[in-house]
Amino acid sequence: MAASEAVPFSKTGGLADVAGALAKSLDQLGHDVTLFLPDYFLLRQNKGSLPAIHDTGLRFSIQMNGRAVPGAVNWTTLPNTNVRVLLVRQPEYFDRRHLYQEDGHGYADNCARFCFFSRAVLEICRQMILRPDVIHSNDWQTGVVNGLLQTQYNGRPGFERTGSVMTLHNMAFQGRFWHFDMPLTGMDWRHFNQNQMEAWGDLNLLKTGIAFADQITTVSPTYATEICTSDEGYGLEGLLSHRRDDLVGILNGIDDDVWNPETDHHIPAPYSIDTVGEGKRQCKAHLQTRMHLDQRADVPILGMVSRMADQKGFDLITGAAERILSQDLQMLFLGTGDAYYEGQLRDLARRYPGKVAVEIGFDDSLAHQIEAGSDIFLMPSRFEPCGLNQMYSLRYGTVPIVRRVGGLADSVENFASESESLQTATGFVFGDYSKELLAETIEKAIWLYHQPHIWRQIVRNGMSRDWSWTRSAHEYVAVYRRAMERRTRRSP
Ligand code: ADP
Ligand code: GLC
Repeated sequence: MAASEAVPFSKTGGLADVAGALAKSLDQLGHDVTLFLPDYFLLRQNKGSLPAIHDTGLRFSIQMNGRAVPGAVNWTTLPNTNVRVLLVRQPEYFDRRHLYQEDGHGYADNCARFCFFSRAVLEICRQMILRPDVIHSNDWQTGVVNGLLQTQYNGRPGFERTGSVMTLHNMAFQGRFWHFDMPLTGMDWRHFNQNQMEAWGDLNLLKTGIAFADQITTVSPTYATEICTSDEGYGLEGLLSHRRDDLVGILNGIDDDVWNPETDHHIPAPYSIDTVGEGKRQCKAHLQTRMHLDQRADVPILGMVSRMADQKGFDLITGAAERILSQDLQMLFLGTGDAYYEGQLRDLARRYPGKVAVEIGFDDSLAHQIEAGSDIFLMPSRFEPCGLNQMYSLRYGTVPIVRRVGGLADSVENFASESESLQTATGFVFGDYSKELLAETIEKAIWLYHQPHIWRQIVRNGMSRDWSWTRSAHEYVAVYRRAMERRTRRSP
């Protein structure tokens, strides 16, 4: 597996949770997994909380547009597993303050950084004689792996049988660069055509990954359908429709060792489905103190933990804020990203002290405390490939309000009415991207929050759902087998 981030080593979003948890789950099913990650400078700062990192002694160099760029490989293991983690070390590329961007701007050499990483994955497999059955790449950062496997590395010793799988976590990020970056990929210019690596005149690394993959997956069944349309395909819907038979949506799971209210060491009062009432009461009081909200047990807290990006529906929240906040409730936001939304939310907190709290930043521990201490979780996303927080919320007895898109549609059951869905509903799902509809849905949820017999049942329904990775890991294994079969059918 190759990914640009994975828990517990590096994380900006859900990709990291998925890469870490899927590797672990495959290992538990008895597969032999090696996970490739960039060796970020940040990772070295975290060293205390990570397993020991060793030098493999392996050195290599990659021709990047006429310049030989040296690399080294460190190794460690994924905690509590047999998963080998190989960290690609290249200080010039990876010793930065952030993973992909600073102050809202992507690093200017992102194409070089991740082409280097992708090419290193194959070079290290070759030199270490890893002989993979399948290479599973994730998102644009590793798209070139699939291209090189079918060209330069095709049929080379150790790669005779290697199939490739590409997982699409978000079509909005494609790794588009100007065409003169093409030599960084290590691929021949003849592949710079509209069926393979080129899109609208640019080099497109996600397209490369899709075009050359034996099998393609995305992170929910609904998103698999959505990305074959012009609304969500972001220009690649034609290619994806063409590959529809090789494309499958597999819903992400959650890592029970990390997101489990019974064992969570980040929260003040761990709880189970039988003790959720009391557990939540304590977690909520602690959260109100920490976030300087009024100390009240009877008022519902609406929480949100998210990248602050257009994708996540912040304009609906700020647009409907006055109406939402005319009710007796509290709101709590943790996130970082777009300066505009950060400013808007800070402004709300200033105007509603004790009622709205905002924390700008990335804070894993606080994310757990918000999942545990809130009553309702907001995810009114414009689009959402899968989304993990709604599943964490269900697990923590925090009722999600979501839009009916992507993985949100696949994981939350709407409460329609007491007679229709009391035994099955796990949250509230609305359709149109409209601030009025969001406000209405929140009003309905708040009303039901004050009907304890109904609310308790919705909480219980959510907490009893199974989101373990094992189910999804089996589905990935089936995809890996299909990739290997397709690889065998392809001529060398
Ligand atoms: P996406 O990958 O689109 O950002 P997901 O819901 O799949 O959305 O995953 C987001 C992950 O990142 C979750 O684990 C969430 O808790 C975490 N996260 C997002 N923002 C923050 C933050 N500011 N602090 C801590 N964790 C965060
Ligand atoms: C992306 C998506 C998110 C998904 C995550 C992990 O960041 O935005 O919906 O859950 O990847 O697959």
